[in-house]
Amino acid sequence: MRLTDEQIAHFHREGYLFLPELFDAEEVALLRREAEAIYANQRPEVWRERSGAPRTAFAAHLYNDAFAALARHPRMINPIEQVFGEQLYMHQFKVNAKSAFTGDVWQWHQDYGTWARDDGMPEPRAMNIAVFLDEVMHINGPLMLVPRSHTEGTLAAQHDVTTTSYPLWTLDEPTVTRLVERGGIVTPIGKPGGLLMFHGNLVHGSAGNITPFPRKIVYLTLNAVSNYIRTPTRAEYIAHRDFSPIIPADDGALLALARRREAAE
Ligand code: SIN
Ligand code: MN
Repeated sequence: MRLTDEQIAHFHREGYLFLPELFDAEEVALLRREAEAIYANQRPEVWRERSGAPRTAFAAHLYNDAFAALARHPRMINPIEQVFGEQLYMHQFKVNAKSAFTGDVWQWHQDYGTWARDDGMPEPRAMNIAVFLDEVMHINGPLMLVPRSHTEGTLAAQHDVTTTSYPLWTLDEPTVTRLVERGGIVTPIGKPGGLLMFHGNLVHGSAGNITPFPRKIVYLTLNAVSNYIRTPTRAEYIAHRDFSPIIPADDGALLALARRREAAE
């Protein structure tokens, strides 16, 4: 799969690109089931909200074969290689739960702020990919993006270790207000299987989920191989140290796995 010139221009101008229903229902149903099974486990990679509900599961591609197949999926790897013009490795992989009734907020932030400060990533040449595992609606805590905010470079941020169970470099209200006055806020929504890619400096966040509808999203951070992290401080399961290039799998690998599982059940 290749992006059109128009799609690439949209990404550079707005800081994001949304490809609805890129993965089909069978592929996503497998990932959704596997995510739920992972959240049911007690392991260091599974972080919880203060309520005890799952918040995020790190590095699932290293211990689950369905997420391993997603991590090498050519529908995602090829377009990002096209944008960066080089091979990629997985910097971070997490499956965010945003659980029904209890999913907590993600405050306004830029991801590259964390990758630079905590991991020593030289440039914002890593792409954030969100793959929707549940339907993302306006009511269940969709990701909110501030278009064009990626053009501001890395903004001053405070390390917030109190608001949620997840430490985050967050932006102050005057900064967010200024950027939103210029660019507005967009909330890409849609069926499971949608893929959203966004720039490491794009300002984003999400509200809590008080609906009965969970909003699971897989977030992959694909870093250009030459941009490997120089001074990591976080656990290896959060900021990976294997910088070898990802070799894309066959386009049908995830679907084939889903069908093998179905046949075995
Ligand atoms: C993130 O920004 O890393 C996660 C945001 C979300 O899942 O809503
Ligand atoms: Mn983020």
